[in-house]
Amino acid sequence: MTAPLRLEVKNLSTTLLQRDGALPLVRGVSFELHAGQTLALVGESGSGKSLTALSLMRLLARNARWQCSGEALFTDAAGHSHDLLQLSPTRMRQLRGNQIAMIFQEPMTCLNPVLPVGEQIAESVRLHLGLNTTAARAQALRALEQVEIPAARQRLDEYPHQLSGGMRQRVMIAMAMVCEPRVLIADEPTTALDVTIQAQILALMSRLQKDTGMSMLFITHNLGVVAHHAERVAVMYAGQVVEQAGVSELFARPAHPYTQGLLACLPGRARQLARQTGQAVALQDIPGQAPAMDRLGPGCSFADRCSASLPQCSLQPPPRQGTSAHHRSCHLATQP
Ligand SMILES: Nc1ncnc2c1ncn2[C@@H]1O[C@H](COP(=O)(O)OP(=O)(O)O)[C@@H](O)[C@H]1O
Ligand code: SF4
Ligand SMILES: [Mg+2]
Repeated sequence: MTAPLRLEVKNLSTTLLQRDGALPLVRGVSFELHAGQTLALVGESGSGKSLTALSLMRLLARNARWQCSGEALFTDAAGHSHDLLQLSPTRMRQLRGNQIAMIFQEPMTCLNPVLPVGEQIAESVRLHLGLNTTAARAQALRALEQVEIPAARQRLDEYPHQLSGGMRQRVMIAMAMVCEPRVLIADEPTTALDVTIQAQILALMSRLQKDTGMSMLFITHNLGVVAHHAERVAVMYAGQVVEQAGVSELFARPAHPYTQGLLACLPGRARQLARQTGQAVALQDIPGQAPAMDRLGPGCSFADRCSASLPQCSLQPPPRQGTSAHHRSCHLATQP
């Protein structure tokens, strides 16, 4: 039986409104996230992964004008469904950090440099769970212990700059987890860390997920992480999801030429390691460059780089083919 839906994103589009016109950067992204499930969002830099996450969290950069459309239906603990894109700012603030939380690649951009980390975690607890100062501090300590920070009690009163990169990322996770969110969005949470610390943080996140049953949208460049930590994968290219499948299915039978290219770039041994051990395997560039988002034509945005390209590819948008379990957007009638 399929686990209940926690987040259903339908046709999400995010457009940057500029003086000289509108620039669509996320273009009709759809996916489902079920209870306890991890969905990996992968794709080259600039493919719209972070903008997808920020659109859902309603945290798009304030120094620009944006337009979001589509639906992002989040099911809360009481079973009520809310469209995150339509909620009032006040209602969104109540959900964010409480029932739906996000971890960023670079913790220093989110931690307040002039506030001890314990206070920052406690603030979230006071705000969302209504605990008093003493109880909130005790909860913050438990959260730091849960993320296995060495000398947790001492860390409560330390400032972010006094901690190592790995410890700061643990603090971010503690902050995100302290209210036990139903959905966690992790945007390349370990990319900035060295390999040993990365493995520790990923193991920690897996354990916390098992303990709490939360769902995760995991944005990553690392195909090893995808293979080992996710159940499903959505592959993004130029603001669109071009293929979506279960992890072993995607590794065994990639159906979109872009996904095939990504996997073909991996040396056989690395690919095997990625599947079996989750060892770090970076997403490699395939020949050519991603298209400029302000110069996209009507057809498939991968056409310039695709060796299987047909005459209609650059003229018409590729149709979605396949099943809800495994689908791709492509003009090819059969798999190349
Ligand atoms: N604040 C912003 N202002 C203008 N363009 C942006 C902004 N944030 C992202 N973009 C553009 O949107 C596209 C997608 O970015 P992003 O979602 O950050 O990619 P990814 O996370 O996949 O690397 C890129 O072309 C990027 O330059
Ligand atoms: S639609 Fe055409 S250009 Fe695009 S991936 Fe498929 S075959 Fe290649
Ligand atoms: Mg990003």
